[in-house]
Amino acid sequence: MRGLNGKVAVVTGAGSGLGRGIALRLASEQVTIVVLDVDEAGAGLTVSMIKEQTGEALSIPTDICDYLACRVAVDQVIDQYGSIDILVNNAGWDKAMPFIDTDPELWQKIVNINLFGPLNMHHVVVPHMVEAGGGKIVNIASDAGRVGSSSEAVYSACKGGIVAFSKTLCREVARKGVLINNVCPGPSDTPLFAAFAGEGEKAEKLRAGLERAIPLHRLGTAQDIAGIVTFLASEEANFIVGQTISVSGGLTMHG
Ligand SMILES: NC(=O)c1ccc[n+]([C@@H]2O[C@H](COP(=O)([O-])OP(=O)(O)OC[C@H]3O[C@@H](n4cnc5c(N)ncnc54)[C@H](O)[C@@H]3O)[C@@H](O)[C@H]2O)c1
Repeated sequence: MRGLNGKVAVVTGAGSGLGRGIALRLASEQVTIVVLDVDEAGAGLTVSMIKEQTGEALSIPTDICDYLACRVAVDQVIDQYGSIDILVNNAGWDKAMPFIDTDPELWQKIVNINLFGPLNMHHVVVPHMVEAGGGKIVNIASDAGRVGSSSEAVYSACKGGIVAFSKTLCREVARKGVLINNVCPGPSDTPLFAAFAGEGEKAEKLRAGLERAIPLHRLGTAQDIAGIVTFLASEEANFIVGQTISVSGGLTMHG
């Protein structure tokens, strides 16, 4: 795709699942990848996979809930590579449970990772993009934030919050060349989905039910999400801003 070769991308949560797929896909377009993840082993594996395909990649172990750690990581990327052209806010987490069984301690953890984490990353990266004359940000939200998802109430609030936040931020910075869009995966086959589904017969029933309900009759994959993220990060998408795109095999259809 146009305009990716030689760019530098920070991908949070690229040590697993969708983030790893996004990192590999961007790397295949000769984008240098910086992985920010709390899972050092997973991040290290992603970096090795990229290097095996002769790409350039670096892991900076970072908890996105920690504002100062985000700032230090971003400063390191700027020192080492000179710019951050693409930011993919992908790291996320949830523990599925009916809302009335949850407690404020769990809400705090979910909000810290899924809402404050991306806020921290926008706050430390956007000034560099503005100074450089532009950049692309893709937030991995969720269809849970658009249509709801039973047992994911607080997570849904965070994902819907990120969609609303980014619409406002891109009104502030689009004219400075910083273009922000959101991708909402539907149910996708990753370790996070496996944890959501649980184990044994219950998990199999949930998966089979979803496969029946999804018009394309399967769960999403990392490759399904990586394609649209790469497109939005490229120059092919230079007139697309403030949009939210569901990638759900048709489970949700937004006008
Ligand atoms: N899998 C799905 O069905 C699905 C559906 C909709 C949205 N999503 C979203 O897609 C994104 C990726 O999810 P996934 O399914 O690949 O999950 P995953 O659990 O496979 O990967 C998430 C990664 O984020 C990292 N992470 C978690 N907390 C972090 C923190 N505080 N700081 C840095 N890294 C952190 C984890 O270590 C992990 O490597 C998430 O934002 C998730 O909410 C997933």
